[in-house]
Amino acid sequence: MSHILECYEIAKTDFERAVNCHVYDSRGKRYVDLEAGCWAAVLGHNPARIQRVIQEQAAKVIHIGKRYPNAVVEAAAVDVLEAAGLQDGKCVFLSSGSEAVEFAVRAARRASEKPLCLTFANSYLAAYGFAGAKSGDDWQILDWGANPSADPEEILKDVPFEKIGAFVFEPGGSGIGFLHFPPKPLVEAIARRVHSGGGLIAANEITTGMGRTGKWFGFQHYDIQPDIVALGKGLGNGYPVSAVAIRSAAAEALERGGFHYVQSHQNDPLGCAIAREVIAALREENWIERGAELGAWFLDGLREIQEKRALAQEARGRGMLLGLELQPRAEMPVARIYRALLERGYLVGYYAAGNLLRFDPSLTIDRKDILGFLETMDKVAEAAG
Ligand SMILES: Cc1ncc(COP(=O)(O)O)c(C=O)c1O
Repeated sequence: MSHILECYEIAKTDFERAVNCHVYDSRGKRYVDLEAGCWAAVLGHNPARIQRVIQEQAAKVIHIGKRYPNAVVEAAAVDVLEAAGLQDGKCVFLSSGSEAVEFAVRAARRASEKPLCLTFANSYLAAYGFAGAKSGDDWQILDWGANPSADPEEILKDVPFEKIGAFVFEPGGSGIGFLHFPPKPLVEAIARRVHSGGGLIAANEITTGMGRTGKWFGFQHYDIQPDIVALGKGLGNGYPVSAVAIRSAAAEALERGGFHYVQSHQNDPLGCAIAREVIAALREENWIERGAELGAWFLDGLREIQEKRALAQEARGRGMLLGLELQPRAEMPVARIYRALLERGYLVGYYAAGNLLRFDPSLTIDRKDILGFLETMDKVAEAAG
């Protein structure tokens, strides 16, 4: 890998192929992927029905000029809107999660005609742009982390709700790392007040959408209905397609007001064909229900390790979005545990700042692969003392 820019840590492996939750290096060694790629392959790597759709759609048209409508794109929009509970709304297809969140935030501010955005301090929104920066005069940042059970009234007392155009809600409690799920009473109180002040709720479902948390969307763990839903990762099962679903009133306001956004791969037929098939597979094959059940079982296994091993401080999770926080120890940093697991054939995520191992497996993972991981994790934690 001497010609790939190292702008993040790159492992010294050479993965050649992947099947469901197994990836194989060039020497034929098999690894269990507990990250579903970058948390995207909800249906596992290379499922046959997605491969078939890619081939069929590629043989027809992959990409077409943005002015020219296509039946696959319209059909995918109907599917995404229905899944998001925004049946009469409108949808746009983009390329990455960051782009979808950036679009969602811009759209919410424009449709509500209110300048301010509100989000949580520990929410990850995007790799760049206005949403990625999440700072400056246009952002109100709420930090509930120090006291999760604090009275919402107390936390919200200084928020100027009449000026909030968008509550940008990331239900994964920082998709990028720490997995502290936002408290239900606080989220619901914010949603009520933003709506009654004329603002919109924009849910960032890049990580939490498409069944990751045991429901179609992370916001469904709360009694709220967003006006805008940004989707990515699982929508393409690893192919880079994202989407923004918008409630009809907001979509009409955007169209009336001449909201303009254009990029080269907007509404590409190939990405839309894949998104349709992912949604169909999740619906027809009950993976979300299975993920909820398997995720709860996986979490129980992590909690058993937490009880037995001093190294494990706290297991937490929702559905197939799980983490194991380790005791902070200078001689045993989380990076070393990650490497020990990699050597033993398991791909997991890790976040040094949170001392957290993170697991986002495909919903299709075999129970025995999770069991094998739990046994290995237990041994590694025992050896760490
Ligand atoms: C919660 C959340 N939002 C947005 C993004 C950005 O998505 P992408 O990396 O596809 O641009 C991520 C990526 O990890 C994420 O976890």
